[in-house]
Amino acid sequence: MGKSSIGVGLIGLGVIGGQVARVLMTKTDDLSWQAGCPLVLRKVKVVPKDLTRPQAQQMEAQLFTTDADEFFTEPGIDIVVEAIGGETPAVEYLTRALTMGKYVVTSNKEVIAKHGAELMKLAQQHRVKLRYEASVGGGIPIISRFQYDLVANRIEGIYAIINGTTNYILTRMAREGVDFSSALAKAQQLGYAEANPEDDIEGIDATYKLAILASLAFRTEVRPEDIYHEGISRLSSRDFQYAQELGLAIKLLAIAKDDDNTIEVRVHPVCIPEDSLLAKVDGVYNAVLVEGDLIDKALFFGQGAGALPTSSAVVADVVAAARDIWLGVTPEAGWQPKPGKVIKPMSDIETRYYLRLSIADRPGVLAQIAKVLGDHHISISSAIQKLADKVAQTAEIVIITHPAQEKAMQSALQELAQLTTVNEISNFIRVEA
Ligand code: HSE
Repeated sequence: MGKSSIGVGLIGLGVIGGQVARVLMTKTDDLSWQAGCPLVLRKVKVVPKDLTRPQAQQMEAQLFTTDADEFFTEPGIDIVVEAIGGETPAVEYLTRALTMGKYVVTSNKEVIAKHGAELMKLAQQHRVKLRYEASVGGGIPIISRFQYDLVANRIEGIYAIINGTTNYILTRMAREGVDFSSALAKAQQLGYAEANPEDDIEGIDATYKLAILASLAFRTEVRPEDIYHEGISRLSSRDFQYAQELGLAIKLLAIAKDDDNTIEVRVHPVCIPEDSLLAKVDGVYNAVLVEGDLIDKALFFGQGAGALPTSSAVVADVVAAARDIWLGVTPEAGWQPKPGKVIKPMSDIETRYYLRLSIADRPGVLAQIAKVLGDHHISISSAIQKLADKVAQTAEIVIITHPAQEKAMQSALQELAQLTTVNEISNFIRVEA
């Protein structure tokens, strides 16, 4: 006797989980029609706090359990949806679900970035599928682009704005000239940034997302610890002012490049031309620019976070899983890492640089700075002097270099810091132009 429906078990009824439950319950007919079978939400694993949320009030009490064992032994759950976020206990729940032969849908970037390879192996062993479209880019369909639509390409580069909180902060700093801390305070007030926003502002959230995208794009395992990352807290309103004068915008970019099997993966603030497509992605929006040998360039843009866009991706994965189960489709092998790619150390990358230095405003100082850079084979593309203080005889200078190696730039910065005529290296930002 076949099944009469496909059952869904949901873990978490927070902001994302609550919205997923709402969509599953209010769009049941349409979703079932698309899945080709009746789709039923059978059980929701909650923590006591979830029960106080408005969505919980609209659901029948017998749907809820706070007990993981009761959730996993509930009969008729074919698909487990995890929407609690964080590494633990989510990774244990996903492992348990896959080991029991359940299809799994998750929005959890941290778990996929750190444990995706093992979980996907487990899914293959148990002949089920792990779907994670919502883990990167919220409502932007980007995971499936790499899994299906772009597979004929050799992906050469990914340039992504994949953290909405930092993009909101940088947009305010650029448009209103406010400093980092007041832009962050506003982001927190609007509920974009977490109360402890370190994962966002230090680039860690973007690192998880880039690990997922790069692993798919380059068909190799890129782990979060392989990715160099810097946050945005050292950017000042003055950097935005000078960047604008130079025709540049400053964005926190997640960059992945594949140069003849040597992969470059990094997350840090970048100056990009202000007329480039990514420079125009403002506020909490995300965008992923993909370069491939066949497509040349493709840009995916949309809301990278929030309950509604994220639920769009989660529920689409649920429908796809339900359709496969209903039709008895053998899950395809999915992501298979290939050997042979190596990750380039950050010291070997080559890019252009923006330098802002506070210097003594005296004859010969520029020549000294140019000599240090020249000694490290770094060529100056342009230089502007700002904020000369006649009394103190100091000035601020902004230099844009031609492409140079990171290790040469780091050595040059150390040497510049030793010059008695350099009061401070106020900032340096990599330039992709
Ligand atoms: N903190 C993330 C962001 C949420 O700001 O983009 C979505 O992962």
